[in-house]
Amino acid sequence: MTNNTFVLRGGIAFSEDKNRITTYYRGYLVCVDGVCKGAFPELPEQYKDLTLYDYGERLIIPGMTDLHVHAPQYTFRGIGMDEELLEWLSTYTFPEEAKYANKEYAKKAYEYFTEDLRRCFTTRGVVFGTLHNEATIELMDQLDETGLVTYVGKVNMDRNGGENLQEADAATSLEATREWLSAIEGRYKNTMPILTPRFIPSCSDDLMKGLGELAKEKHLRIQSHLSENKSEVAWVKELVPESTCYANAYELFDTMGTAEQPTIMAHCVHSDEKEIEILKKHGAYIAHCADSNMNLTSGIAPIRKFLDAGIHVGLGTDVAAGSSMNMIKTMLITLQASKMYYRLVDTDVKPLTFEEVFYLATEGGGSYFGKVGSFKEGYDFDAVVIDDSKMFSMRDMSIRERIERMCYNDADAIIKDKFVKGKKIYTRME
Ligand code: GUN
Ligand code: FE
Repeated sequence: MTNNTFVLRGGIAFSEDKNRITTYYRGYLVCVDGVCKGAFPELPEQYKDLTLYDYGERLIIPGMTDLHVHAPQYTFRGIGMDEELLEWLSTYTFPEEAKYANKEYAKKAYEYFTEDLRRCFTTRGVVFGTLHNEATIELMDQLDETGLVTYVGKVNMDRNGGENLQEADAATSLEATREWLSAIEGRYKNTMPILTPRFIPSCSDDLMKGLGELAKEKHLRIQSHLSENKSEVAWVKELVPESTCYANAYELFDTMGTAEQPTIMAHCVHSDEKEIEILKKHGAYIAHCADSNMNLTSGIAPIRKFLDAGIHVGLGTDVAAGSSMNMIKTMLITLQASKMYYRLVDTDVKPLTFEEVFYLATEGGGSYFGKVGSFKEGYDFDAVVIDDSKMFSMRDMSIRERIERMCYNDADAIIKDKFVKGKKIYTRME
């Protein structure tokens, strides 16, 4: 497959909208110059001459978007999970991230991260690096090579990081950010910078204000964390006493973004009606990190309320507070968490459906990148081919059932091939 114009045949599934998954058994998926021309039960006449790759009984779904993941935390995923957020950060996370001052360490660790990201369901990602410029550029170089499309942030933090993971002051952090931006200008095909104030407790008022101005000046997007944990929320109120809520603190520093340059806020577990209004007003994206929210005992984010309010929502693995980069696992925990929110917190908030969660993992987060995350006409051709033939069953299953089963029991679903913008960026060796 040398060019990016072709037809794929297989068991196709994609979100028509957030309540509908369209499926075609042995359907056709047309890609012209990296753009999807649509999915069809029969191949339209005008595409009959294109090269056809027949995947037989395999499934073909849109690539997934991981809207929030910390690359430097990947190599300690799955350990140290008995703490809550603030203790977890100071005990495990900050000491680990400090090691990325060493370029060789960063290179090796980022190779593990990048290779595993290439092999999973993710085709697009929004990624935190560390505060170190050299290491972050190394991460961006590696990601760009894979063909995955990503936003990557050099992290800003000038307070509360301890002596080893903290920039001297706001001016130093802003200067380093400008240096990072000029070092990578014009360097990548698939990788874009995003401003990344870690969260309010890590960034002084001057640093936050400076980043808000820089975002405007250079038309950059911003990512951060919001209302993840109750102690964190209380701390922000102390740090920014004039704020009416945590989201308002970001707003005061002009870092909540706009519809054209939307800010991604990870978590929003404890966001109330006031915060929902602010997120909506700015056209922000919420990165829902259900695995992480369970692991750090943060709580359950009221995703149905966000969707009802018309806020953009996608899913994030939030490694290493989330323990895996598997978006299918993240989908499952999202479903289970929403069921428990309904049962234990508020029976007026109905659980998310499988259709809705499939949408969040694909087009919900994908829309942050434009027309991404579906097989509707005009969308970028990001696709994952899956072999579930080892998941034996006595029934004839519909495509919809096979996708649901893969989510609830992913054990034997094997990724065969992965495409981004029509380019095959991963193929599994037999
Ligand atoms: N809040 C500030 N930093 C972090 C981080 O690294 N992980 C999570 N889950 N929350 C944060
Ligand atoms: Fe995070």
